[in-house]
Amino acid sequence: MSKRIWLAAALAAGLLIAGVAAVTAHEGGDAVHGAALYAENCLVCHGPRGEARLDGHAAFGGAIAYGLEFTNAVAQGIPETFMGPWGSAYGGPLSEADLADLDAYAATWAVGEIPPLPAPKIPEGLAGDAAAGAELFLTNCAGCHGPAGEGRGDLARYPALELGPDVITATRRGVNNSLMPAFAETSGGPLTEAEIGQIVAYVRTWERPSAMQVAAEASPEGAGLLILMIGMGAILLVGGAVMSGRGRSKQ
Ligand code: HEC
Ligand code: HEC
Repeated sequence: MSKRIWLAAALAAGLLIAGVAAVTAHEGGDAVHGAALYAENCLVCHGPRGEARLDGHAAFGGAIAYGLEFTNAVAQGIPETFMGPWGSAYGGPLSEADLADLDAYAATWAVGEIPPLPAPKIPEGLAGDAAAGAELFLTNCAGCHGPAGEGRGDLARYPALELGPDVITATRRGVNNSLMPAFAETSGGPLTEAEIGQIVAYVRTWERPSAMQVAAEASPEGAGLLILMIGMGAILLVGGAVMSGRGRSKQ
């Protein structure tokens, strides 16, 4: 056999091995559970089948090119981008088994028989804006903030929600130098003002005490101090009035 034929045969064998490796890489994973994980964590940016939600957007990314690098990219994230680390080994919320399940799910995009994405589990007893907001929260926010806003994994990366006065502003415009994208259409994001209002209506149903309530409950002395300060202020005012009255009478 000539050298050229040997080379071609080696190349063919190499391709075959690479192909088998690509198919078996995700063999261990559960694609149905992977679909659920994808819906919770990835859909928000990458769209239902990795085809991108806002194509080419800096925060929401482009289409996912599924290949052998998939699990590494998901586990470690891509530094300096909105693609955070999702693997627990890198401070993310997903286990090794979860990563394998996601890989198995993403592999079905090219092969077919794609498991459907499950609908989010909306808490009972909600109506109107809050019910609509629950669905939006679970598909857009829960992947990073947790289904009840409690945070996930490394809380510095996937923090609990504070629900301060700036909830709407942060949701609209995102938070600079963090994984928090701007969601408002007016800032290039995917959500209308009405949708953001529904999300806020939903998170307000959690009825967590605000930071001010917590401070007041933690220190009843705080209220006493306030009365003392008002009292001192009154004394100063009266004193000042008396002094200025005297000053005038001297003239
Ligand atoms: C906040 C938005 C956001 C979320 C959530 C997100 N990604 Fe990404 N992802 C990105 C961005 C942006 C990039 C592109 C980074 C770059 O290359 O500039 C990216 C890149 C990727 C890549 C590599 C790029 C490629 O061409 O294949 C993969 C794989 C990927 N994401 C998978 C996932 C999976 C799986 C999840 C869920 C566990 C996820 N992403 C969640 C924004 C996100
Ligand atoms: C890709 C991950 C990611 C997604 C998705 C995400 N957030 Fe965030 N969010 C963050 C991070 C990280 C911070 C903290 C930013 C900082 O202060 O460094 C944050 C901060 C916030 C804040 C400001 C701090 C606070 O607790 O009040 C609000 C409000 C917020 N997010 C709401 C939302 C809402 C609503 C959604 C869905 C529409 C959402 N986030 C989706 C990662 C995310």
